[in-house]
Amino acid sequence: MASDRPRVLSGIQPTAGSFHLGNYLGAVRQWVALQESHDAFYMVVDLHAITVPQDPKELRANTRLAAAQLLAAGLDPQRCTLFVQSHVPEHAQLAWVMNCLTGFGEASRMTQFKDKASRHGADRASVGLFTYPVLQVADILLYQADQVPVGEDQRQHVELTRDLAERFNGRFGDTFTVPQPYILKETAKIFDLQDPSIKMSKSASTPKGVVSLLDEPKATAKKVKSAVTDTGSEIVYDAENKPGVSNLLSIYSTLTGTGIAELEQKYTGKGYGALKTDLAEVMVDFVTPFRDRTQQYLDDPETLDQILAKGAEKARAVAAETLAETYDKVGFVPAKH
Ligand code: TYM
Repeated sequence: MASDRPRVLSGIQPTAGSFHLGNYLGAVRQWVALQESHDAFYMVVDLHAITVPQDPKELRANTRLAAAQLLAAGLDPQRCTLFVQSHVPEHAQLAWVMNCLTGFGEASRMTQFKDKASRHGADRASVGLFTYPVLQVADILLYQADQVPVGEDQRQHVELTRDLAERFNGRFGDTFTVPQPYILKETAKIFDLQDPSIKMSKSASTPKGVVSLLDEPKATAKKVKSAVTDTGSEIVYDAENKPGVSNLLSIYSTLTGTGIAELEQKYTGKGYGALKTDLAEVMVDFVTPFRDRTQQYLDDPETLDQILAKGAEKARAVAAETLAETYDKVGFVPAKH
């Protein structure tokens, strides 16, 4: 791996089991592309997953399942470093230093925390949930990442990362790369198929609007065919007035590589039904091999664990160096070995 390439880092939570279409189009698809041109680090963020209550057995299974899906989506351990966050203890160690640099008010302004805390009830929200974004800051800074490929909902966390990197550098001397978010406009936010005013999300109130990639392909087809569309019948991209159809066009366009204008032309004079039937087919063609490949990785847990062990080793080499420099800068006495 050429180290003069710019570096990218990103992570995904193993909480939901199956990835949904928003995860794939908003983030994972870019991860696959970027491994060709960048020095890429990708991880399954199990430390983040325990910020809300988790069943240990499910967490273990879902962590391997997340790694299997990332490989099925096209991550190649020869081209990127794929690992599990808890295998690299430096994440929690740097997070502590970053916690001590973060203002209480600053952390209180994180919108994802506010959303999640209100969902779980403020009293039941853990301190871990509160400092979740700071752990994410540590994830990114440990690898001196230049870019962070994510969906729009993570932009604020990358902004916090930039602020804390600059604060640390200002106070202790140049240490961290200040990263940029890498967010593609077309897929920054994929919307719920039943309610196109909200993002597709694992915490949606009904699973009907969420395309889980590991669902039965037939169920996926059904969800697409029963997607909510808008008043009128014309198939044109207009995110404001036709959010349902525009969402379907974005999905269709990205999965097939066909431009939106070309799709609009193709469906001139045809109804929403035709668009949905065709998109259902496109989706089935996408999820069917994805499910099969995921299963193949799950059927060979030894190979999967080996890939993750190698990834953790490569990740640790980088993370340990950054942590050592950070500890030195803040004034810790080096431990004698
Ligand atoms: P997570 O696990 O919620 O989501 C993984 C990725 O999927 C993107 N995403 C979407 N993109 C477009 N439309 C949607 N509807 C949609 N839903 C989800 C997310 O933006 C994300 O990129 N905090 C992060 C995980 C994380 C991380 C990191 C990311 C931990 N450490 C360091 C980057 C760098 C999260 O919960 O993602």
